[in-house]
Amino acid sequence: MSEAAALKACCADLYAGDWARLLLGDSLHPGGVALTERLGDLLRLDPGARVLDVASGRGGSAIHIARRFGCSVLGVDYGVANVARALDDGFRAGLRGRVSFGAGDAERLPCADVAFDAVVCECAFCTFPDKGAAAAEMHRVLRPGWVAGLADLVRRGPLPSGLDDLLAWMACIADARPAEEYVRHLEVAGLELVTLEDHDEALVELVRSVRSRLLVAEVVARLRRMQLPGVDFESARSMARAAERAVLDGKLGYALILARRPRSSCDVDHAFVQHGRPWHDAGRPTRGNDRGGL
Ligand SMILES: C[S@@+](CC[C@H](N)C(=O)[O-])C[C@H]1O[C@@H](n2cnc3c(N)ncnc32)[C@H](O)[C@@H]1O
Repeated sequence: MSEAAALKACCADLYAGDWARLLLGDSLHPGGVALTERLGDLLRLDPGARVLDVASGRGGSAIHIARRFGCSVLGVDYGVANVARALDDGFRAGLRGRVSFGAGDAERLPCADVAFDAVVCECAFCTFPDKGAAAAEMHRVLRPGWVAGLADLVRRGPLPSGLDDLLAWMACIADARPAEEYVRHLEVAGLELVTLEDHDEALVELVRSVRSRLLVAEVVARLRRMQLPGVDFESARSMARAAERAVLDGKLGYALILARRPRSSCDVDHAFVQHGRPWHDAGRPTRGNDRGGL
């Protein structure tokens, strides 16, 4: 197995395990469903839209988007255990036919060209070893004129030591890049920036919640004299501490980035025919957060 494939498999295993649920709850990204909903609002999702969720994890966001916006959603994740659980949850949510999940690699999506009205990718782009390939895939599957929405950790300057190992990679930290670098990947792939919003507060909240959940898990494990296989409280604790410091120092943040696949003149009619409301041009790219632009 190549190093890149091993990294992806490790990451998928981590997020499929009980350890991730214990520390993160049902939503595997900062901001939870509220920030997923913000992304959906920015993407102007509406009933009839076909949405691709890249690296959909356990399917929480895909299911929420289908329910909240009435669109149909396909989730693709590297981890087959994640996919199985997501399929199960989608079925139990009564959304069969509107949400579906499949195993696949973000760098080689198992999807047809121009098949989607929107692509979302939450807290995962930073873990892809070949970010350029993932961006090119988003461009390929998006219909011209429509938009991809990324939500991800962003790095501002060098990170302190303790945040550069495999565990930090899987926690989406070690290979987090500056927002401008994500934008560059998207632009090289042919997408154009529409909006960039900072949501660092969501990351502060998540890191604090992970630290308290860790404490509780450790106390419970001690009281029950449990040996949890694969759980190293010591390194998890020191990583969470270092992550909180980096976030409070402004070295790590969280951002939403929207980028559109441009429409050429011959694409326009095609977009109108397939889905009633094409994505309107919002003019110049905007930068800010939901409390107002900068
Ligand atoms: C932090 S979780 C985020 C899951 C989901 N987007 C959410 O916000 O709940 C990262 C996810 O990325 C998936 N992943 C990592 N590398 C991937 C790849 N190359 N292709 C598809 N999924 C990948 C992992 O399996 C994991 O489910």
